[in-house]
Amino acid sequence: MSKKIAVIVGSLRKDSFNLKVAKIFQEIAPPSLSLQLISIGDLPLYNEDIDTDTPPSSYTRFRQEIAACQGVIFVTPEYNRGLPAVIKNALDVGSRPYGKSVWSKKPAAVVSVSQGAIGGFGANHQLRQSLVFLDMPTLQQPEAYIGNINSSFDENGNITAKTKEFLSLIINSYASWVEKLN
Ligand code: FNR
Repeated sequence: MSKKIAVIVGSLRKDSFNLKVAKIFQEIAPPSLSLQLISIGDLPLYNEDIDTDTPPSSYTRFRQEIAACQGVIFVTPEYNRGLPAVIKNALDVGSRPYGKSVWSKKPAAVVSVSQGAIGGFGANHQLRQSLVFLDMPTLQQPEAYIGNINSSFDENGNITAKTKEFLSLIINSYASWVEKLN
């Protein structure tokens, strides 16, 4: 049976390159993985005052969806050499209530996608810092910094063969690593 893997995208814009890459991962993932895009744009900024016995319904929905998955792939842009706030907010929401984090032990991958040349290195590693604390083992290789993403699509909006090959390498490496963990 295939493993259900959450895919969290760190850009909310409809024409997001990160979203495009996430959808390509869905298409090319091996049969051992079933990738599910999980929404984070509707999560109110984390505030303990609203995280009561009756938290916002989006917090509950998000926590249940992540809890039902056996791994998480983060696909993120870099904002000002760091992590977009929406991803950090999602991490915080999923980490509470205290002692009931939905992240613990779930194998993760971090893919950063940028129009810039550095490929979102800063965002990628800032995200990894939180994943250490959240106890999420994270794929080390191949490192997935995807730069100049705007030149990775042709005039018809199709991904170039070279970039698609790299995305295949990433998702297949994640799939075989996840198999070995269990
Ligand atoms: C950016 N961008 C950007 N790029 C980068 O490589 N390093 C950076 O630090 C930043 N900083 C940054 C801040 C803010 C507020 C925005 C809106 C953008 C550019 C970014 O890589 C580009 O907009 C991507 O296309 C964003 O990803 P999506 O939305 O296409 O998935």
